[in-house]
Amino acid sequence: MVDSPPRDRLPRHVGIIMDGNGRWARARGLPREDGHERGADSVRTVVRAARKVGVEALTLFAFSSQNWDRPHEEVFHLMELLRRYLVQEREEILGNGIRLVTVGDSERLPPYVRAPLVELMSASAENRDMVLCLALSYGGREMLTKAVREMCRASVAGRLEPNDITVETVESYLDSARILPPLDLLIRTSGEHRISNFFLWETAYAELHFTEKMWPEFDRDDLMIALQDFASRERRFGQTSEQVSRPAATGEGDPGLD
Ligand code: FPP
Repeated sequence: MVDSPPRDRLPRHVGIIMDGNGRWARARGLPREDGHERGADSVRTVVRAARKVGVEALTLFAFSSQNWDRPHEEVFHLMELLRRYLVQEREEILGNGIRLVTVGDSERLPPYVRAPLVELMSASAENRDMVLCLALSYGGREMLTKAVREMCRASVAGRLEPNDITVETVESYLDSARILPPLDLLIRTSGEHRISNFFLWETAYAELHFTEKMWPEFDRDDLMIALQDFASRERRFGQTSEQVSRPAATGEGDPGLD
């Protein structure tokens, strides 16, 4: 069993691009849907493990804006799987102090997914032990486009002066910044080395961890390996190694894990 890193070396916010369900299934002569079913088992395992070691927030890229263009049957199966997950995991989520939130255009989800989603978000709203964020009908470009649209509206209405727009202003228009800590670690399974329109803004200073494992095979130990990898990194945020390794001596604040 792979150990978790010490708590003070843990990422606050982990994002996962859960890739490889289809390939995992095809390699076994199974329909793609079976890969998604097994992928949902990995979701349960990873949520439990992240909560147990003390990760503050976990975002799972469960359905992208572009996934709507997949074959109708696969989209329907993914929606049904999501509905089932929300119903079956309700007690686990509430019993473990997990707060469920979403990013993305969840208005597009069918009512049979939206209803249990909205109910569980509301029922778990006061939970404080971990935030579980499902990225649903989510696209990083779409989110940035929405932010630009809202900023333009605010500007036209006289509430936002273009010269006053800062990085913090833009961030305040992103759903992620309103509900989640900064993204520290991004994991992608299945050997692909791409961001695929996930957290485009949020990955600015995230550490990236890629694994060959397909998502249905990704387990607790794989999460610990990713967390250990993160703990071994030196995060410089544009500064020098000397600056970040001696923050107290230089009086430059703590640019470390937090
Ligand atoms: C990518 O694999 C995965 C998805 C598009 C869906 C992710 C969904 C799950 C893991 C299960 C349901 C989620 C929850 C939260 C219950 P892919 O199909 O693109 O795989 P491939 O690249 O091998 O074809």
